[in-house]
Formats: sequence, structure tokens, C-alpha cells
Amino acid sequence: HDHLISANQLTREDIEAVLDRAADIAENPAAFREQQAGSVLALCFFEPSTRTKMSFDTAMKRLGGDTTDMGSVESSSVKKGESLADTVRVIQGYADAIVLRHPSEGAAKMASEFADVPIVNAGDGAGQHPSQTLLDLFTIRENAGLDDLTIGIMGDLKYGRTVHSLASALTNFDARQHFISPESLRLPRSVRFDLHEEGAQVREHTDLDEVLSELDVLYVTRIQRERFPDENEYHKVAGEYQIDLDTLDAASDDLTVMHPLPRVDEIAPEIDETAYATYFEQAHNGVPVRMALLDSLLTHE
Ligand code: CP
Repeated sequence: HDHLISANQLTREDIEAVLDRAADIAENPAAFREQQAGSVLALCFFEPSTRTKMSFDTAMKRLGGDTTDMGSVESSSVKKGESLADTVRVIQGYADAIVLRHPSEGAAKMASEFADVPIVNAGDGAGQHPSQTLLDLFTIRENAGLDDLTIGIMGDLKYGRTVHSLASALTNFDARQHFISPESLRLPRSVRFDLHEEGAQVREHTDLDEVLSELDVLYVTRIQRERFPDENEYHKVAGEYQIDLDTLDAASDDLTVMHPLPRVDEIAPEIDETAYATYFEQAHNGVPVRMALLDSLLTHE
């Protein structure tokens, strides 16, 4: 079975196939209404989620399928000490595919070794979040285009799994990537190494002003407080790298501001009503993109 574990596994052709199908779905959702009738998707979220869980749920239902939800760690038998391997071995008997979010890096990969149905990694700790990347790329393609793209990715680049997946997938396109973060939250060495191996056009900055005026897209992220081993380290960087209208003075009028959400204080609400703001559209794109992804994983083309 095909699993979606990491953005590293996605070729340009894979990505374009999903984005093209998502565009078809967005244009004519009625044509896909019975596409997965009779199929069931299991939602296994060991960590909180609003967008990923609800948009996968909606996506499956809009394809005519159904979903079954493990519920929270507190309300499931994980609470009694059941292992992830056993949980997956059981749930695969209830569903045709499993969407898994887990606090441990590598959890989805491990789960895929125990599953006879496709596993979608919906976030594994500070690792990867590849289905988010597909909706990010869809949003970028619609707003700025994926060719000759200059993107700034700002905030928590160390623990931000959406960043790791997006940076990797962008190596398939003609994209210049500028990474903007405090020194302590730079990209992990392993991600930098992979980008280098792929020949990515990458620069790192601590100051957004160094690059803001060149950007087509500014992808802002939340400081991932829950990943810091030491709360004091979080407080040293909390509140840095926020943007408001003054910050964007030097930006192009066509700048697209994205954020995987949830935001805490990284983007001032005054930006929400401007033409820059694309983060709610981005979240809404989760439904057609995840419909396209599920349809491709479940149809075995
Ligand atoms: N962007 C994202 O993964 O959001 P949730 O944590 O709400 O699923």
C-alpha cells in the first residue's frame, strides 16, 4: 500500500497530480460525491487538532465515505497502556485508511510497518506533516505560482513540522527559500542537509527586513511551545517574529501571507482584512486537497 509519511517521498509529478485533482474537485465537487462510497477513514489523533482532523473528516464525507474516530488519548484504550503498534493493528481492521497524528517523531513510519491499509502522517512530533504541505502548495500555486517563487519561511523552523515538509517539497520546484528565525530555532541540521543534497536554493536570516521586499510568499509559523524541553527557552523567543501592518511596509503589494494555523500572536489581526491574508483560504483548501489525496490513496490507480 501507498503511505504518505514524509514530503521527501513526493515527486513533482505526485504533487501536481494531487493539486490538479484538488482543483477539479474544487470546481465540480458534485462529480466526486459518490467516489468513495462504502469506504471508511480512521482518524487517530494522539495530539490536539482542529484543521487536520476536521478537514480529513469533511473530505472523506464529501467523497461519499465515512469516518471513525479513535477519540482522544484520554477516552481511548491508549489510556490503559495499549501500544501504538497494537492500536494500528486493530484499527486497520475497521477502516480502509488511517490518518495518524502522534507526538513522537517517526510514529507514522513505525505505524506503516504494522498496517495493511494506507497511513497518512498527520504530524509526527517535530518531524513531518506532508498533507499540510499539499494544501500549502495548492495555496501557493493559486496565489503566487510555484515557478520562479521567492518564499520566506519564518518563526519556529526547528520544531515546525509544517516547515520541514514544505521546505522539502519545494525542492521539486523553482523556488528560492529564505528561512527567518531566531538563532535557537534554525532548521534542524538533518533538514538543512537534505535541502543541500537536493540542491535547494536556501538562505538563512535572523531579520525579516533583509529579505521581505523580495518575497512572493511569507509563510509564518507559531513557536511550538509544546515541543520545548525547557520552558525558559520558550520564553526567550516567545513574541519574537510577529508581523503587523507596519512590519509589512516594505513588502510587495502582491505578497501572500500564509500560516498553517493555529496562530497565537504571530500575525496581528489587523492583517486579516487585507489582501495579504491568505491563511483562512489556506485552511479551507484542506478539504479539496485532502479529498484528492484520499481519492488517490484509496483508488489504487
Ligand atoms: N495546521 C494544522 O495542522 O492545524 P491543526 O493542528 O488544527 O490540525
